Amino acid sequence: MKRIAVLTSGGDAPGMNACIRAVVRYGIAAGAEVYGITRGYAGLMANDIKKMESRDVGGIIRQGGTVLMSARSMEFKTDEGQAKALDVLHGWEIDGLVVIGGDGSLNGATALHRLGFPVIGVPASIDNDIAGTEMAIGVDTALNTILDAMDKIKDTASAHQRAFIIEVMGREFGYLALMSGIAGGAEMVVLPDTDVSKDEVVREVKSAFLRGKPHFIIVAAEGASTSKKSITQLLTEYIAESGHDARSTVLGHVQRGGSPSCYDRILGTRFGAAAVDNLLAGNVGVMMGIRDGKMVTTDLETVLAARPELSAESIRLSEPMSH
Ligand code: ADP
Ligand code: F6P
Repeated sequence: MKRIAVLTSGGDAPGMNACIRAVVRYGIAAGAEVYGITRGYAGLMANDIKKMESRDVGGIIRQGGTVLMSARSMEFKTDEGQAKALDVLHGWEIDGLVVIGGDGSLNGATALHRLGFPVIGVPASIDNDIAGTEMAIGVDTALNTILDAMDKIKDTASAHQRAFIIEVMGREFGYLALMSGIAGGAEMVVLPDTDVSKDEVVREVKSAFLRGKPHFIIVAAEGASTSKKSITQLLTEYIAESGHDARSTVLGHVQRGGSPSCYDRILGTRFGAAAVDNLLAGNVGVMMGIRDGKMVTTDLETVLAARPELSAESIRLSEPMSH
């Protein structure tokens, strides 16, 4: 395998650049030519490819976002789109592809693998909703961003004895909410697939202030609402019934940006180098992961068939810590 390509796809995540940099530099050191594909699968189908040298990735390890840019493409989900992508890869005589992205992007990588093209997936998504790895690129930085916001919100919430809802990303998965709730000292964490009733919220808010708490912080996962109203709207209505003042902050895309943490820079670098090693060794159709601190691979098919789960230990921890 002499020519390898790399792309980033789906929601960007801080640390993607560290991974691109590692694929380029480690790949070149291993004797391969490395090609960068711009704008994910959309750029692949549009033949938006260029050869990359070590200098092209200078200074990017500390940058958020992705220098290769990212995209979402409906066309790539079709047989025609995938055939177009394969034509482009064959036209450039690319022997293998590293796909850095979330679960949707890994589905795309699996489609190429099923068509016989050698691919390696690298999990990158702030949601940490990908089975087969304890951590994905971007999660640690996003958590630190959330904590920074929570600390600030606690200052102003305490000054007014207010209840606050902080809505965090994560789609249907509650990892960001659960972990930031524990690390940020939230009074309540609202996760997807768990029922939180108006009575419970009213009771907990009243009781917290009676016990002398200076604030009541709820971290709510964006995917926690089962109604048409957002989880923030619902919780705001619930808190109003307690007679206490409520404010809310939807953190939104702030969570996706920023300079990657040390952890994400190292993780991105390790994933990128290990992806090259596996590609060159012909161990393809797999996703890189980290387990007990070690680099591991899991078949893409296995990854996509599995459902990620929140740690039961963390869920148990979050409740008593909130009192
Ligand atoms: P993420 O990778 O962050 O989860 P998306 O779910 O939007 O983001 O997926 C990114 C892109 O991956 C999609 O726009 C599409 O091009 C591709 N993709 C997603 N699912 C599939 C699929 N089942 N088959 C082929 N390509 C897919
Ligand atoms: O998957 C990453 C993520 O940031 C989710 O947490 C969020 O729901 C979604 O992407 C937002 O997507 P978009 O980039 O389309 O706004």
